Amino acid sequence: QIVNLADYRPTDFILERVDLTFELDPTNTKVDSRLIFHRREGVDPSAPLVLDGDELTLSGLLFDQNELPTSQYDATPESLIVRDLPASEPFELTITTYINPEANTQLMGLYRTNGIYCTQCEAEGFRRITYFPDRPDVLAPYTITIIGDKAANPVMLSNGNFLGGAGYDEGRAFAAWFDPHPKPSYLFALVAGDLGVVDDTFETMSGNEVALKIYVEHGKEARAAYAMDALKRSMKWDEERFGREYDLNIFQIVAVSDFNMGAMENKGLNVFNDKYVLADPETATDQDYANIEAIIAHEYFHNWTGNRITCRDWFQLCLKEGLTVYRDHEFSADMRSRAVKRIAEVRHLKSEQFPEDAGPLAHPVRPTKYREINNFYTTTVYEKGSEVTRMIATLLGESGFKAGMDLYFERHDGQAVTVEDFVTCFEDANHRDLTQFSLWYRQAGTPLVTVSSQYDQSSGSFTLSLEQMIPATPGQPTKEPMHIPLSFALISDNGALATPTAVKGGEVTGEVLHLTERQQNFTFSGISPRPVLSLNRSFSAPVNLHFDQTPTDLAHIARYDTDLFARWQALTELAVLNLTQGVRDLKTGKALTCDPAFLSALLEAAGDETLEPAFRAQALTLPSESDIARELGGNNDPEAIHAARQAVLYAVAKEGQPLFLRLFEDMKPAGAYSPDAASAGKRSLRNIALSYLSYAEASHARAAEAFAAADNMTDLAQALTVLAHRFPDSTQATEALETFQSRFEGNALVTDKWFSIQATIPGAGALERVKQLMADARFVASNPNRVRALVGSFAFSNPTGFNRADGEAYRFLAEQILAIDQRNPQLAARILTSMRSWRSLEAQRADHAHSALMQIERATVLSADVRDIVERMLKG
Ligand code: ARG
Ligand code: ZN
Repeated sequence: QIVNLADYRPTDFILERVDLTFELDPTNTKVDSRLIFHRREGVDPSAPLVLDGDELTLSGLLFDQNELPTSQYDATPESLIVRDLPASEPFELTITTYINPEANTQLMGLYRTNGIYCTQCEAEGFRRITYFPDRPDVLAPYTITIIGDKAANPVMLSNGNFLGGAGYDEGRAFAAWFDPHPKPSYLFALVAGDLGVVDDTFETMSGNEVALKIYVEHGKEARAAYAMDALKRSMKWDEERFGREYDLNIFQIVAVSDFNMGAMENKGLNVFNDKYVLADPETATDQDYANIEAIIAHEYFHNWTGNRITCRDWFQLCLKEGLTVYRDHEFSADMRSRAVKRIAEVRHLKSEQFPEDAGPLAHPVRPTKYREINNFYTTTVYEKGSEVTRMIATLLGESGFKAGMDLYFERHDGQAVTVEDFVTCFEDANHRDLTQFSLWYRQAGTPLVTVSSQYDQSSGSFTLSLEQMIPATPGQPTKEPMHIPLSFALISDNGALATPTAVKGGEVTGEVLHLTERQQNFTFSGISPRPVLSLNRSFSAPVNLHFDQTPTDLAHIARYDTDLFARWQALTELAVLNLTQGVRDLKTGKALTCDPAFLSALLEAAGDETLEPAFRAQALTLPSESDIARELGGNNDPEAIHAARQAVLYAVAKEGQPLFLRLFEDMKPAGAYSPDAASAGKRSLRNIALSYLSYAEASHARAAEAFAAADNMTDLAQALTVLAHRFPDSTQATEALETFQSRFEGNALVTDKWFSIQATIPGAGALERVKQLMADARFVASNPNRVRALVGSFAFSNPTGFNRADGEAYRFLAEQILAIDQRNPQLAARILTSMRSWRSLEAQRADHAHSALMQIERATVLSADVRDIVERMLKG
């Protein structure tokens, strides 16, 4: 059924404390839960206590230590309702349930992964462990006792500080934990098993010593060093940048190999997908290192934005996620190159969030209804949520933003709050009214800003006409105009920034122009000669710009803007013009020609030694096929898009061949591999040069040599990708895949790369290849990373292979979704979202996609997760 934001009301009973005892057993774990409640003041004295459950059986219930007559309660798998409870005084309920961790293939609640007991409770997994008021606004301190087989579970962890542990009875031991910070159930965690540990310490700004521990499978300890380093840097950064100090005497991270998402911020005990913990030069790429740094930081930052201050209900998810993503973005920007980080963020936002916002799954950053909350851990809530936070920082400036955050931490520590509470802090701290701005939380859809400009030489006035349009989205046919902060610069012909003497028509603060009406003209005076407008610099607002800027003006920005991000943006815009024109030319049978202005701007940036290599690599990375599809807007033919992009790659490669040769020679970092940003930047520039050379030279020879010479996973995986994607039928590709696989046999994370590189080989043969790989003994259907690496990569990242014209791959995906759904609904629902843009395909493919979706919808057994996604995709 549907949950509505408008229906929120507080619980009838207040939970005072929680005391849990687990007697671990792989198939029959006993859970005793002692809960102390009292009735909230003013609540009807006859109102029953209603607790949530999910697939539970009640096997014992005590009221103040006494057996409760069966007439006083009703227990079903989904709920426990207790009647005739005291009107005001506190009482204690003791609930006993037995659960089967081994049989838990959903990976929600308590489950087993490689012999390790592990939990995932966000959003509603705790109710799979015991009956509980499983909602984020019920906060209590927890005491946890874990009893388990001594030999099998030398490590038994939960949230908070360690109280003690010892032998329990013959063969069993116990460990006890206490978390003094009141928390909701979704932040509960338990981990037990035989794990190796890496130890360190951190001294907080007020001098407390915190024990840091990262638990991994035995033998993988050395691969946790970078994660530990990232953790210490995160702790320090949060103190310096946000004044946030850690608040327990221990902070623990556990890496597990079966996990539905990236990681989870359980209080004092973060649980991670081991993909985001384990790294060494031989097995991890630069991108893996960067992801580890970002996700370790993200989960750590949740300690304040999420845990100390949590969400009142799940509609407020962006309160913690958008804000925490913004914080981890800022952290990575401080650790690495800010401009390059921003480019990566915007690439990701545009390729993932923009399509979501433009399709049937579009929803506001703060949704108002849901059927399955797991389906709202979306790029809109996370990434657009982060952009909205960033815009608040842009509107208020650094110190205004800081003042608002300080007030938020001070005012709401220990509470479960709403987006309105958050925004009010910024309003109160800055005496500002953010009412119109708040529409960003409520209106879905990517705003389209149409831009035109006029320059009057005689009066020296430059007029900018802006019009905003927010497209209709499911449930929101019409929209109000929003407050869109657009960072801008007027660049004169010698590259200097022009400063107007006056502005009329709207508010401009510093470098930011505030578009607040549907249509607005801004007139700048004192401008001479005609300036080139650089708009939405650093992507100050997550909008689409419709602006017919000439290639000459774009090239001017690409050359002169002082904002590196804006230079990249202008290059991308030039590339998009050429790529979309290329698609049209192909359709009309014209030969594709690249604009020389585009080629020279691109190669000039790539060859500019005053620019950092990582930026130059970004400049050379053309928009992806799905980016082009999005720019084209509809009736898309993935084959034509692929062909046009290939043609442009050839043109760039031919024109830039001497440069690429030079870069390939010069950009090898000296000495042993180091994951630092500067070295990674060089590698990325060198590897993209290698990829262009494979076009210019039309040969696999250089990539094969690079593969043989590689001394780190970044170079190795890149060379392998060039071989496999560009020359799939060559013996060199086959041999390299074979070598790669056998060299890293048994390493799950590298095996995932092996699957995903093959799943993304473009072209008609892809489906057969994927089917063969599914039959490979290394394909493990129970491991989410492996399923994502094969099925997910194919559906999300192989546009020509997946969108083959006969629709066979859609049918294949439908079958896979139904199979995955049987064991892991969250994973199935997530992979199904790969079809979210099906309506923008050309008619025949769209038809096939439609029947595949219908095939899923008609299935007799379907999880709530998949049903929700498929129905929205068919309807929206
Ligand atoms: N809170 C976690 C994070 O952002 C993600 C949890 C996702 N949960 C889910 N049911 N999808 O780090
Ligand atoms: Zn998060």
